[in-house]
Amino acid sequence: MMKYMRHFFLLCGFVCISILITYNYSTQTREAPNFTWSVNSSRDLAIYVDPENTTAVITNENLCAPNPADDPPKPILLIIVCSAVGNTKAREAIRETWMSLEPNRTTPFDVRTAFLLGQTVNDSRQNDVLMESNLHGDIIQEGFIDAYLNLTLKSVMMLKWVKTFCPQVTFVLKTDDDMFINVRTLTEYLSQSHVLQRKDLIVGSLFCRVSPIKDAGSKWYSPLFMYNAKVYPDYVSGTGYVISGPLVPILFEGALHVPLFHLEDVYTTGMVAKQANIIPENSNLFSFIKHPTANSCLYRKIITSHGLNPSELKSIWSRINDPHLDCTSVRLPKIGDPKFKKCHKAARLTVHRGGRRGYG
Ligand SMILES: *[C@@H]1O[C@H](CO)[C@@H](O)[C@H](O)[C@H]1NC(C)=O
Ligand SMILES: *[C@@H]1O[C@H](CO)[C@@H](O)[C@H](O)[C@H]1NC(C)=O
Ligand SMILES: *[C@@H]1O[C@H](CO)[C@@H](O)[C@H](O)[C@H]1NC(C)=O
Ligand SMILES: *[C@@H]1O[C@H](CO)[C@@H](O)[C@H](O)[C@H]1NC(C)=O
Ligand SMILES: *[C@@H]1O[C@H](CO)[C@@H](O)[C@H](O)[C@H]1NC(C)=O
Ligand SMILES: *[C@@H]1O[C@H](CO)[C@@H](O)[C@H](O)[C@H]1NC(C)=O
Repeated sequence: MMKYMRHFFLLCGFVCISILITYNYSTQTREAPNFTWSVNSSRDLAIYVDPENTTAVITNENLCAPNPADDPPKPILLIIVCSAVGNTKAREAIRETWMSLEPNRTTPFDVRTAFLLGQTVNDSRQNDVLMESNLHGDIIQEGFIDAYLNLTLKSVMMLKWVKTFCPQVTFVLKTDDDMFINVRTLTEYLSQSHVLQRKDLIVGSLFCRVSPIKDAGSKWYSPLFMYNAKVYPDYVSGTGYVISGPLVPILFEGALHVPLFHLEDVYTTGMVAKQANIIPENSNLFSFIKHPTANSCLYRKIITSHGLNPSELKSIWSRINDPHLDCTSVRLPKIGDPKFKKCHKAARLTVHRGGRRGYG
């Protein structure tokens, strides 16, 4: 009986939190940018990505260079954090937290991390980007105007950069600058032999049979001329997804033949993947919502959590690395259970897109 009561309260809590988050985000939908893709815009990505030529402004071509200390070399896990030009504070917080390695940490992967930015027309802000890049060496800037409605272009530019400058990569994590990433759990998850051997993996928080939003005031508005079927192909949330290295050139070439669609996760992990006969998969370790930040032990166990500001990131980071934090007797929800195959439906659709902040 007690057991059922507890499940009931857990469920109520979850529903309440979901409603709160949905409400919180739906109140933001009026800030939606004017929808600048028009019936007459070309949706041929080849025009924008210039596939034969290098387009990067800040190339960072040595990011994936082999580490001579590792013989034989370790498999590379590349983490690409899509970030808006103006979000310097978010990048700073990530450098100080999950991007820095834990003390004496050993991992089966050689983890490399970079922020991917587009261009700005403001010379003074471009100078700031160059200075930040000189200081930290962790920025890739590709040749397109950084804007919310260009996030698909940003993801395809990511594929282009990886294909060119990191072709030996084993896995790529695409994420955003408002995310907490637990690199330790991520590498543990990816190093399981049944995962490590995968050459066709797309994994994250899976969405199935989601209907396009027809409200022009929504940030996720999708006019009929952009997509006219009832539901999107299944896709994983853009807040954080992993793709196998060998899939990168396949998805990139695919994107040159699938008309551009402005929601990057639907496009890359749904439309383009489907064209290439790749089926995206769910893992409950990836979350498109924000896990309760008070639960440090939960943060030790998950891979992603969405919507954390710099001070929350710093607070969580110091708590999960506290050697006195004892999680042995703490019972956690059954996350990461491979039997628990879940597929998120449209109801909570509005909360699962990251990286909105900071785009014009
Ligand atoms: C959107 O367009 C309207 C009318 O064309 C304009 O008044 C408004 O400022 C624009 N909003 C944004 C966010 O650019
Ligand atoms: C698209 O192009 C057609 C023909 O050139 C023109 O009549 C129409 O106004 C354009 N529509 C938009 C939204 O720009
Ligand atoms: C590569 O760039 C050069 C110089 O801008 C241009 O002439 C050429 O057409 C480009 N190649 C392709 C395949 O677009
Ligand atoms: C880390 O490794 C160094 C050298 O191997 C050692 O001296 C140090 O005590 C280790 N620190 C921790 C926190 O284990
Ligand atoms: C360029 O960016 C700076 C901040 O870096 C801002 O103060 C300035 O107003 C911007 N200039 C224009 C023309 O938008
Ligand atoms: C997206 O990038 C392209 C290429 O740089 C640019 O022409 C276009 O204006 C950008 N779109 C927006 C909405 O800024």
